[in-house]
Amino acid sequence: MSVEFEPVKKHIGSIVHVDRDKLLTKETAQACFDQLEARTVLVIPEAHLTDKEQLTFTDLLGDRLNFTNNVPGAATVNDVHQVTLDKKLNPAPEYVLGTFFYHMDGMTVATPPPKATLLSARTISKTGGQTEFASTLAGYAGLPDAEKAEIDDLVGVHTVLRSVSMLLDDMTEEQRSKILPGVVQRHPVVWKRKNGTRSMVLGSHADRIEGMPLAHGRAILTRLIEWCAQPAYSYSHTWKEGDLVIWDNCGAMHRVRPYSEDSGRMMHRTAIAGIETTS
Ligand code: OGA
Ligand code: MN
Repeated sequence: MSVEFEPVKKHIGSIVHVDRDKLLTKETAQACFDQLEARTVLVIPEAHLTDKEQLTFTDLLGDRLNFTNNVPGAATVNDVHQVTLDKKLNPAPEYVLGTFFYHMDGMTVATPPPKATLLSARTISKTGGQTEFASTLAGYAGLPDAEKAEIDDLVGVHTVLRSVSMLLDDMTEEQRSKILPGVVQRHPVVWKRKNGTRSMVLGSHADRIEGMPLAHGRAILTRLIEWCAQPAYSYSHTWKEGDLVIWDNCGAMHRVRPYSEDSGRMMHRTAIAGIETTS
């Protein structure tokens, strides 16, 4: 076997050991895809892929998500999205600042949520900038049965407005006007996946639980996020330049520890289109 996986923690994460010349092959990509389903986060240390190579690997994993220019401030070159707070490159930082809070990608968009995201570190921040993952797959599995039953039929309402709610006080009227009225998507709290597993749809974009008093719904959502973020179900990745990290967006929330806009941090991001809806 030319690719080997080393578990990082009991419930989440694998380090991928593969010869550099075997990485961009269909066999390696298939093995990584299967491992991603099981382990949620894959780390390929110091792979130092070029954009072209990252796109090749992305295409081997699935259907590349085409980033249209609908994300303000997105500097996108040939489907490689530059994640940075550098003002010269990203004049509209709200979406990147929003990544400081636990979220899942694409939950307010009307297409199936992206299957996976690939992030490579081009320039790291001296302080902060670790990316943290909280498994909603392992978190769900670990819930007591009574709590599983309580949330089984709940439906979450996800909005763009809620996803930036932590930033609103700092936003100009013009920035706010671009977000309102905001898109609304419904997702079951418990995602009954095609592969037979169950995960949860949670994050900063989850505004409320349909049909439930606001405080009750928000308390449940907050408690579930905290549950999944406990050390047993989460992994914090401290980046080295050239690392490539891939996460299963159907089985985890993620966030980044705050870094400053002059940190130079630059991540190159590609993604794979969703392959299943949440209901
Ligand atoms: C993302 C994201 C976190 C990071 O690209 O979707 O949330 O560490 N990034 O930059
Ligand atoms: Mn994200």
